[in-house]
Amino acid sequence: HTAVDVIRAKRDGDRLTDAQIDWVVDAYTRGVVADEQMSALAMAIFLNGMDSAETARWTHAMINSGEKLTLDVGRPTVDKHSTGGVGDKITLPLAPLVAACGAAVPQLSGRGLGHTGGTLDKLEAIPGWRAQLSVDEVVAQLRSVGAVICAATSGLAPADKKLYALRDVTGTVEAIPLIASSIMSKKIAEGAEALVLDVKVGSGAFMKSLDQARALATALVSIGVDHGLRVSALLTDMSVPLGRAVGNAVEVAESIEVLRGGGPSDVVDLTVALAEEMLSRAGISASPREVLASGEAYETWARMIRAQGGDPDAPLPLARHEHVVTAPADGYLTKLDAYAVGVAAWRLGAGRARKEDPVQPGAGILCLAKPGDRLAEGQPLLLLRTDTPDAIPAALDSLSGGYDIGPAAPAATPLIIDTIR
Ligand code: URA
Repeated sequence: HTAVDVIRAKRDGDRLTDAQIDWVVDAYTRGVVADEQMSALAMAIFLNGMDSAETARWTHAMINSGEKLTLDVGRPTVDKHSTGGVGDKITLPLAPLVAACGAAVPQLSGRGLGHTGGTLDKLEAIPGWRAQLSVDEVVAQLRSVGAVICAATSGLAPADKKLYALRDVTGTVEAIPLIASSIMSKKIAEGAEALVLDVKVGSGAFMKSLDQARALATALVSIGVDHGLRVSALLTDMSVPLGRAVGNAVEVAESIEVLRGGGPSDVVDLTVALAEEMLSRAGISASPREVLASGEAYETWARMIRAQGGDPDAPLPLARHEHVVTAPADGYLTKLDAYAVGVAAWRLGAGRARKEDPVQPGAGILCLAKPGDRLAEGQPLLLLRTDTPDAIPAALDSLSGGYDIGPAAPAATPLIIDTIR
């Protein structure tokens, strides 16, 4: 094979053979195929697509580029992946809840980039908590606690690490076969037997339209089935932030409320729905809503945090400066745009602009009202928190046009739109 032959084949609309895919992914990982060649191939794939068999083989090749974990932990293993959203802290209550129901949950997570938050950034707001674990530590904690949320070990799908960075700078991220193989290569290499995908739809999501989200969900499930995984996908709304808290420490605090039996109903409902789906994939019958109410999920959370060096009882950091946005008129909140709130929280310091930037653990936004709530003029609508008050004007700028007040309550939009199995 040569890189140019593979590029020409895809450029001209041909299917890539298994042998071509195996070769090009491996050669790129080893540096034999150059970045400019892989850029051209990624663009050809972006323009001409890959069918489901090519995508499955591409995923297979990316898994084979690195190590594959074997999680022999004495209970069924099941994981969740969200395509990312604003206020999406669901992993935090979900992993300990599903573990408290009897499964083992290896939740290898990432950091935030741009307007969507990262699970590891959120948990690092907890004093002492450590994201970096060895494979042995992951396995030991799955045995003793049942849940681990930690950074992916660098040996998983190295081809994807390289390719994702390249796609990021060549305008080739938004191709469904490339997104689906990227996500699934990491999840399959992680070694869980079952997986539930939360594919987000709406302004705050990667996929803005239902058609795109459904196509991605179908591609993800198809790759999983092809690799012998028990897999399904929920399509869920991301046009409004999830819950009230958007940021790092503020999202940990809201997750703890949920684990203690309270918290916003959308966060509770999505946590329970995903837990039910995960347990069903794992072949465990349990009632997550009851387990959440019993306090057992909170106990598992506290053990999980302690096992990684964190103090579950320590006060969470709070940013030094506050700014309140008030309702400009009497009426119902008819819109609270997830993307606008996500970008504003990011500008306040909750997120990072470049990979190497730090995040402010105490920065973020509390949504004091959600669509459908009735407000009086001057009533607090959003509470902004930051350590860098110079960022407040930019955050307010992002929020302008992101909310509306109207005379009538908006039609309720369903949180869970569909399930794909
Ligand atoms: N997330 C990933 O892990 N990969 C993609 O390609 C897009 C989102």
